[in-house]
Amino acid sequence: MHVDRYEKLWMAISITFLVMLMLIIGYTAYAHGVHVPHESAAHTPESEPTEREPGVYQIGDNEYEVVIHAKVWSFTPGEIKIPQGAKVHFILTSEDIIHGFYIPGTTVNSMAVPGQETRFTYEFNKPGEYLILCHEYCGTGHHMMVGKIIVE
Ligand code: CUA
Repeated sequence: MHVDRYEKLWMAISITFLVMLMLIIGYTAYAHGVHVPHESAAHTPESEPTEREPGVYQIGDNEYEVVIHAKVWSFTPGEIKIPQGAKVHFILTSEDIIHGFYIPGTTVNSMAVPGQETRFTYEFNKPGEYLILCHEYCGTGHHMMVGKIIVE
């Protein structure tokens, strides 16, 4: 079978790239432990995600833990009131499917994943009303899935 010279060249380049990609993936997975999320990442020693009731818990001087459960198509609690300057440690999970968690005007942009906890911290220094938006398409009610944080 005759294969054109340039065809051979492109085949060689393509195969080289494929082999390089697989080597890079293998290297990062085994040498650096990079992998997709899995079940064991869900469980932290101090708490199981399903055992924490949703709510606002004061843990220090103007410091709060906020446990939020997302499910189609709402956040629980749906409205959170905190004082100005509050440092909030979010603990986020989903009861069904993957949802987004985005607060416009802040650096908060995260995901609620079933069976896992997403933890992040944000300090609300500006008073006002903040919207929580689900920015991951999750079905027919997706555009209705909002929450509110009131900083007073
Ligand atoms: Cu929940 Cu989109």
